Amino acid sequence: MAIAFLQADMDTIQQAAVLVISQVLSGRNLNQVLSEVTNSLPELSSQQRGALQDISYGTLRFYGQLSSVLDALLNKPLQDLQIRFLLLVALYQLQYSKAAQYAVVDFAVNTVRKRNPAASGLVNAILRNFIRNKNALLAAAERTEVGRYSYPKWWIQEIRSHYGEFAEAILLAGNQHPPMTLRVNHKRISALEYLSLLTENAIPARIIEPDAILLERPVPVEKLPGFIDGLVSVQDAGAQYAASFLDIQDGMRVLDACAAPGGKSAHLLETSEIKLLALDKDALRLERVRQNLQRLQLNATLLAGDAAEPAAWWDGQPFQRILADVPCSATGVVRRHPDIKWLRRASDIEGFAQQQKRILTSLWSLLEPAGKLLYVTCSVLERENQQIIEDFLSHHTSATQLPLEATGMKQGQLLPNVLHDGLFYALLQKQN
Ligand SMILES: C[S@@+](CC[C@H](N)C(=O)[O-])C[C@H]1O[C@@H](n2cnc3c(N)ncnc32)[C@H](O)[C@@H]1O
Repeated sequence: MAIAFLQADMDTIQQAAVLVISQVLSGRNLNQVLSEVTNSLPELSSQQRGALQDISYGTLRFYGQLSSVLDALLNKPLQDLQIRFLLLVALYQLQYSKAAQYAVVDFAVNTVRKRNPAASGLVNAILRNFIRNKNALLAAAERTEVGRYSYPKWWIQEIRSHYGEFAEAILLAGNQHPPMTLRVNHKRISALEYLSLLTENAIPARIIEPDAILLERPVPVEKLPGFIDGLVSVQDAGAQYAASFLDIQDGMRVLDACAAPGGKSAHLLETSEIKLLALDKDALRLERVRQNLQRLQLNATLLAGDAAEPAAWWDGQPFQRILADVPCSATGVVRRHPDIKWLRRASDIEGFAQQQKRILTSLWSLLEPAGKLLYVTCSVLERENQQIIEDFLSHHTSATQLPLEATGMKQGQLLPNVLHDGLFYALLQKQN
């Protein structure tokens, strides 16, 4: 189904969601596809855009469960994948949205009738069968691992092998809606003052960390007072620990080695007067750092370069602090990116681990004696976290791992919960 075809014929968000799901499951990034599809449909109201986003995210979030239910309803596999995706979208709407059941079914049947009249009876029968036998079908899906947790098998096994009895809570937390948390720009306004601004604007919220305000419900950023003028940014509370863990003092020469889109760079600059080099391999993503710092009225040197190949960009002056927020599986932020559950492969983890080792080893030689390096991932997988650090420490006698403390954090690992995402932190110090 091409976007041009949709533009001419599509009059509902259900079809747009089918397009999003089919593109994501063929390997593309959810946010990118969603923005392309939304831009191709300027006639959608903001409410319809919100519904399209909810259906697309939700269908992927519960794709394992919905697929198990659908397979139980089918006598043989559906050849037409577009019809399969339409059924998954409709099942999501029937189970998780407030849309009227008859409307969901009628629209799906009409869409299929236009595309493949012979299949419309099947679609009608499947959706009505689901409505009639919902409880039994959901209970049967619950008895399979993928149906119960909505993750691929390898992912469930990986989490279980490390977390044992706690695995279920981690997997289920990844299927929740993520909280929306703000980072107050310390240089412009205090958290208490910004909380009053939110209250004046009828946006319920509470302070949960020195600079972090948790909103009771997500709101579009345009509705946040002073957002355009740089009073505040959106950033998870767990990600905000980086600025204090790095133990920065004014005047320091600091490298943020994997900086884009610039959330942690900006926080460092909001809390201290430092000389910051913000590096990222991806020049396009670096542009987002530039825009974010501009909005927040902050200054850093921006450079496109590979953290694992410093010879190409380093001026030879050692850094006193280095932040290495390395590329990773993003398994700790899956509730914000449900597409990664179905895009990642088990074999990707080893690839990330190799990349993380290379980056960490290269950055170590840029750190001055007594300097500190903070290694960060948004992963909950041991293979990308403490195992990387253990391996590094066993090859670098000049490195010591320093203790870090935060509520709920165990050995550097924060697990996703109602207050923050899943992240891993390790602070290393170089011998003097
Ligand atoms: C987890 S994100 C960083 C998020 C960022 N620190 C923030 O708080 O907004 C990882 C970043 O690493 C970048 N990256 C990946 N490989 C890299 C490399 N070898 N050198 C430098 N940057 C790299 C990616 O382009 C991506 O922007």
